[in-house]
Amino acid sequence: MKKNLSIIILAAGAGTRMKSSLPKVLHKISGKPMLYYSILESLKLSDDVTVVLYHQASLVQKSMESYFKEEVDTGKITFVIQDHKNYPGTGGAVMGITPKHEKTLVLNADMPLIQASELEKFESDAVIVMSVLELESADGYGRVVIENGSVVKIVEQKDASESELSICTANAGIYQFETQFLLQNLPKLNNNNAQKEYYITDLVEMAINANLSLKPLIVSEENFKGVNSKVELSQAEVIHQNRIKHEFLKAGVIMRLPDTIYIEHGVEIEGESVLENGVTLLENAKIINSHIKTNSMVQDSVIENSDVGPMARIRPGSYLKNTHIGNFVETKKAHLTGVKAGHLSYLGDCEINEGTNIGCGTITCNYDGINKHKTIIGKNVFVGSDTQLVAPVTIEDDVLIAAGSTITRNVHKGSLAITRAPLKIIAGYFYKFFGKKQ
Ligand code: UD1
Ligand code: CA
Repeated sequence: MKKNLSIIILAAGAGTRMKSSLPKVLHKISGKPMLYYSILESLKLSDDVTVVLYHQASLVQKSMESYFKEEVDTGKITFVIQDHKNYPGTGGAVMGITPKHEKTLVLNADMPLIQASELEKFESDAVIVMSVLELESADGYGRVVIENGSVVKIVEQKDASESELSICTANAGIYQFETQFLLQNLPKLNNNNAQKEYYITDLVEMAINANLSLKPLIVSEENFKGVNSKVELSQAEVIHQNRIKHEFLKAGVIMRLPDTIYIEHGVEIEGESVLENGVTLLENAKIINSHIKTNSMVQDSVIENSDVGPMARIRPGSYLKNTHIGNFVETKKAHLTGVKAGHLSYLGDCEINEGTNIGCGTITCNYDGINKHKTIIGKNVFVGSDTQLVAPVTIEDDVLIAAGSTITRNVHKGSLAITRAPLKIIAGYFYKFFGKKQ
């Protein structure tokens, strides 16, 4: 961690271009809000991270506190509320903050692709280091005006002249300032512009006019893409997904058609695992030496030495070990060890042990309308097809359950459980019922 670096993350904007009631920075990429990533990467470089909030501040703050409780408690992260009424804009957002360290890095919070390794490149003795994107079209960004090879100023799209609009050099929106310079010059900003806002970008022109050192740092859109709309959100997520999948592929995971696979931040995959096309892995799913087949979804569960799918849904709290799960099987809080459940089952709030076979269409009836109850099934149990297990219920080892049974009581070791309504067969009834001739 850098000893002399403070970081300010600007997250107070309304994000109107997102066309959403949810604050922009809470929109998710790979399962986590955009602001989560800005904070996560910042903490790798600094012990003094200030997050500036205003629009729906308490909602944003609560969300971040849930992810970074320890860092908030130890003062590494501080939340401040911008005086947005009097000082709107990215410059206004930084006013009133006193960074602890000699250098201050200012980040927009709508850049979920930033990485600490890229931010480290801002280290310099210059009074300002500013990030620059060379783009095909700089539409949506502030333009960097360069004359005779030197930066002159940054012009916002809404303030730009016709010729300035055609500039393809954009301000990426990340700056490192000498903290002293920042504190001395923020009060000098004005709002004489199209948006009547205090722009942080005006500090660049002020430094140039004062003959202070300015270092433009060319960065890539791959890492510094700004997200202002849902189109850009989806584009950023594709880049983010590719990064996650690339890391797992390098670590030895086999993926069939990786572009069709979705893996959230926080997922772990170990050993020799295979993910077929259309697989979705969510939250803290952990896959160890397992094969997840086409179009299956695994959420917040551990799967070890097992195969799952195609088209299976493993819901939170499941733990599958040495287990075979076939098509159209749903599990939730299911602890399965050495189990086979090949087809069409719901296994919720249950524990099933070694050598047990779950027949097609088996259902754990875990919910009585008010509470959830548990089903426990021992070893080497044969559960016939279309069995309903009405929880709470325990099936001991070595039990045989006949097909189509509804199990409402515990079954002791070695027993047969069978429920049967007597089968009637009435010859010729079809013809009588439909009034047809045989
Ligand atoms: C800003 C830059 C622009 C740059 C672009 C890069 C300014 C004036 N413009 O424009 O040159 O090309 O980023 O993505 O800085 N925010 C606040 N308080 C406010 C307004 C904004 O905290 O009063 C925060 C927002 O939450 C956001 C960030 O600052 O995270 C940037 O704001 P946004 O409105 O997206 O700025 P851009 O118009 O994209
Ligand atoms: Ca922006």
